[in-house]
Amino acid sequence: MPSLALDTPELAEQYDAVSDLQYEHGQHLLNALQLRPGESLLDIGAGTGRLTELAARHHVGPTGRVVGIEPLPLRVDIARKRASPWHHAEVGRAEDLSRFAAGAFDAVILNSVYHWLPDKDAVLRQAWRVLRPGGRIAISSASRERPHDLQQLVADVLAQAGLGRRGGSGSTPHPVTFAELAAQLEAAGFHVDDVRLRRFADRFADAEAVRVFSQASSFGNFLGEFLPDVRTGLLAALEARIGAHRNADGILLHRNLLFALAHKPA
Ligand SMILES: C[S@@+](CC[C@H](N)C(=O)[O-])C[C@H]1O[C@@H](n2cnc3c(N)ncnc32)[C@H](O)[C@@H]1O
Repeated sequence: MPSLALDTPELAEQYDAVSDLQYEHGQHLLNALQLRPGESLLDIGAGTGRLTELAARHHVGPTGRVVGIEPLPLRVDIARKRASPWHHAEVGRAEDLSRFAAGAFDAVILNSVYHWLPDKDAVLRQAWRVLRPGGRIAISSASRERPHDLQQLVADVLAQAGLGRRGGSGSTPHPVTFAELAAQLEAAGFHVDDVRLRRFADRFADAEAVRVFSQASSFGNFLGEFLPDVRTGLLAALEARIGAHRNADGILLHRNLLFALAHKPA
């Protein structure tokens, strides 16, 4: 199980600096939501608040409202520096949205968060409650059918070390299939408008950049269940495998993500 207790000020700052990939994925979700000026948005698992700020400034504007909730206080501290009179960040978890009234939001977004959540049904029930009738939800998630190149490399390294396949070792401990994502949304009462798989080509300067990105994006959970000396050996083996993905422009790794858009029937 991933831990929410491994974050550090350095990891939080690094995430803010290296999360351009997640930021790009989030923009696909924001565009799909088609937010209008004056609408309200709940950004669940908002990290350091980059997407929350973008939504506030460029999608709903000063007549709207955006709230970001995020369980890691160090990341909320960074997000708070971005706050405006119409958007802010709070410490909170997806599983408990009880602080918000029923129907409080026009839209909910979970960007690169869903694959961290073990109990999808509980989270979707909460999201359904805080959305108004007709409200929209947009989700990006790692796909279980199509793991990222990096997840595959981690699985290979663990298998080679005789450690088997471990769900929590990489950065996507609870991925879903296309069918599961649609079924989970429908079970919570949503009407599914669109689910699609997108493939991204991620470029990194070197293997160290991949490690920093993975560690910051997983708030310290990347290979985090192993003792330090085992982990050092695994990281060295992973670095060697990542080297095979080097070309003239650096390291090229592919990432597959599911994007879902759904709404609460009016
Ligand atoms: C890869 S980051 C994505 C952050 C942000 N959404 C973005 O687009 O940059 C994943 C985030 O999910 C958050 N997270 C993990 N478990 C969570 C939970 N139970 N409820 C809400 N957020 C959670 C983490 O703290 C982390 O900030």
